[in-house]
Amino acid sequence: MAKTASSGLDRILTLELVRVTERAAVAAARLRGRGDEKAADQVAVDAMRSELNRLPISGTVVIGEGERDEAPMLYIGEEVGTGDGPGVDIALDPLEGTTICAKNLPNSLAVIAIAEKGSLLYAPDVYMDKIAIGPGYPAGVVDIDASPVENIDSLAKAKGVPVNEITACILDRPRHARLIEAVRATGAAIRLIGDGDVAGVIHTTDPEETGIDIYLGTGGAPEGVLAAAALRCIGGQMQGRLQLNTEDKVARAAKMGIADPTKVYKMEEMARGDVLFAATGVTDGNLLAGVKFGRDSIQTHTIVMRSSSGTVREIKARHQDLDKF
Ligand code: FBP
Repeated sequence: MAKTASSGLDRILTLELVRVTERAAVAAARLRGRGDEKAADQVAVDAMRSELNRLPISGTVVIGEGERDEAPMLYIGEEVGTGDGPGVDIALDPLEGTTICAKNLPNSLAVIAIAEKGSLLYAPDVYMDKIAIGPGYPAGVVDIDASPVENIDSLAKAKGVPVNEITACILDRPRHARLIEAVRATGAAIRLIGDGDVAGVIHTTDPEETGIDIYLGTGGAPEGVLAAAALRCIGGQMQGRLQLNTEDKVARAAKMGIADPTKVYKMEEMARGDVLFAATGVTDGNLLAGVKFGRDSIQTHTIVMRSSSGTVREIKARHQDLDKF
């Protein structure tokens, strides 16, 4: 596949990506609500991998299911694709929100992002402190090093609303007790989510639909890179800082090229250049519907976008060739 003049990523890939997340989402959705996170994740991984291997790319998984010794498939460094097309970095999570899927709760997704080689942050599987808001605000309205009060106040002013009309999305974890207390003290509301902070970050981009203005807190670093890739396409601001709080984590990060363990990464540093992002709903969510199984067809709902054009497409597909799934 020839590179276009404007970019190394072929436009056709944007739509090809949809098949990849659709296939993973359908596989996982068959195991929704069965209480088996591992099984749901495994079928999603298998499905995503086999679909990825049909794509005309020379892809390298940089954010995947884990490091090589702990993940048999879609591990960091695995080469995927037919090998015939552009060299790309791939960040993926075939089932983001394994527990949500196992419990059949909202907002589990099949997710992938592709960028030109060397454009995605190679992050180890550690925690990342994150802050994100949607598009339409001046740069620097929020800052990862400012207090929750400062960030919420500043965001409310920029939005032109009182603080009590701001809603923050935070993962419901004991580690966030102080953060939750501090945000509540401002008068802002909190949407506590059980899992799934890729969706939590993306939800900040459409507050009217989702009711969420800002994402705050600590979640997985791989999910942080995926969320940054999504925001690069839709617009918004995000910062992340890896929690490299042990010597072992510092050493693992150093092997991935991270020299400064305290560095704050801007969205543009986590996902640079031309980025493609796709997500298909597994369970129903605020932005994407979950997979629907009909008697003769399967319906999927996918969002797919590209940073260089800023185009955001929503694709509702009805699949009738059920043998494919
Ligand atoms: P999985 O899909 O791997 O289960 O991750 C779900 C998730 O909630 C992520 O969205 C989030 O970044 C991370 O787990 C938070 O980690 P923890 O559950 O350890 O707080």
